[in-house]
Amino acid sequence: MLFIGVDLGTSAVKLILADESGKVLKVVSKEYPVSFPHSGWSEQNPTDWYDKSIEGIKDLLAEADGKEVAGISFGGQMHGLVMLDANDEVIRPAILWNDGRSYKETDYLNTVIGKDKLTEYTGNIAFAGFTAPKVLWVKENEPENFAKIAKICLPKDYLAYRLSGVFSTDVSDASGTLYFDVKNRTWSKEMCEICSIDMNWLPQIFESYEKTGNLLPAVAEELGISTDCIIAAGAGDNAAAAVGMGTVGKGGCNISLGTSGTIFIANDKYGVDANNALHSFDHADGGYHLMGCMLSAASCNKWWMEEIVKDTDFKTEQAKIKELGKNKVFFLPYLMGERSPINDPDARATFVGMSMDTKREDMTQAVFEGVAFALRDSFEAAKSIGVNIERSCVCGGGAKSPLWRQIIADILNITLVQTENEEGPALGGAILAAVAAGVYPSVEDACSKIIKPAAETKPIPENVALYEKRYEEFKRLYPALKSVFAANIEKF
Ligand code: XUL
Repeated sequence: MLFIGVDLGTSAVKLILADESGKVLKVVSKEYPVSFPHSGWSEQNPTDWYDKSIEGIKDLLAEADGKEVAGISFGGQMHGLVMLDANDEVIRPAILWNDGRSYKETDYLNTVIGKDKLTEYTGNIAFAGFTAPKVLWVKENEPENFAKIAKICLPKDYLAYRLSGVFSTDVSDASGTLYFDVKNRTWSKEMCEICSIDMNWLPQIFESYEKTGNLLPAVAEELGISTDCIIAAGAGDNAAAAVGMGTVGKGGCNISLGTSGTIFIANDKYGVDANNALHSFDHADGGYHLMGCMLSAASCNKWWMEEIVKDTDFKTEQAKIKELGKNKVFFLPYLMGERSPINDPDARATFVGMSMDTKREDMTQAVFEGVAFALRDSFEAAKSIGVNIERSCVCGGGAKSPLWRQIIADILNITLVQTENEEGPALGGAILAAVAAGVYPSVEDACSKIIKPAAETKPIPENVALYEKRYEEFKRLYPALKSVFAANIEKF
């Protein structure tokens, strides 16, 4: 039996073909554009997700027997608003997880409805990236589009719908909508009323490891796969990555350094952080998790190297960085505003502390350190509610850099663990499909058999001490600059 795991990301869709023991046989990646119509906005065309996934599956199966594919599942970029009309046509480009346009609607939800009520109904407060404020934004700003809505869903659910004809979602991804009751794993009637959402627009909810349907005959024929191939609900990319890294059950931690940067703490019980600095979401293993999400992580380095320095020799650049903890330059990584923990769509990135002897590599180093310091902000929020993390798995494009791993290990003062297979969300998708197909009795069981720890990065005590002082300084920068950022934002 073969399984396909699809990681529907922001810059590309990554697909893996795995056998039932979890061995990855092939990896394919297909890029698609993301558009930034205004500063802080970000959109994508859902039909690109489908077209590129189909292209990717065809490449994946070029040397394999498609008839052996027993299941397909997903990890998908979270929170994006996909709107379909009565003919299932996409009404407008999807508004993505890192889009900050719904700041007014977010304020309305947090202040007029109130954080207490939102937490009672959903386990979370509003953030501009979440889906509910986006629905309100469309209602207010594009009433003609709002009037056409027959269905709304999340990115991977659009893809699953086109593959299976079943309009479904899973509990982990639904958790990020803010119209989902995380504790009881069901849509929130109260929030749907508050957001003018007709509950008939919403997909049917499944656990991530449940079968939702089968591949549609026309799609199966195009791909050379049998219609016996099942589709499993899948998960939001962070929950899928956690599955792919074995962060399931109670207390494990996974850090993902992709376009976003997340710190994901698995738990078997529902819990809310009293300050709502961390998201409280359902996990793909049937449990729950807490998560801090920064909007720009590996994307900061990509932006710095590709857009500013105009040099894509990442390795040579990083080889110039030798001394950790002594850099004089700071970088605030808020290129798209920031979610956890400051919840400020107006925040922007900045370098601080350059002098005539500052070299380019000092600024590159500051980018790595700035992301790690901002991750530490979420880490501190977790610590403040008594979560003790000494080790964490690490995955995502940024985690491939030994330098960046060392900086994060030093700044967080924890050991980072890589696993044998680094395809986090895509492997998580394949595992969820295998559980849905009955190969494994549970997600935990599958992970215990498939995921093997590999290398470790341990914190270096001298660096930890130096970075501790630097973090105290870093913490003072955003409060000092907050009003400057706000004054410079062009509002649409
Ligand atoms: C999580 C989040 C991001 C996206 C990135 O809350 O918004 O990690 O899922 O794909």
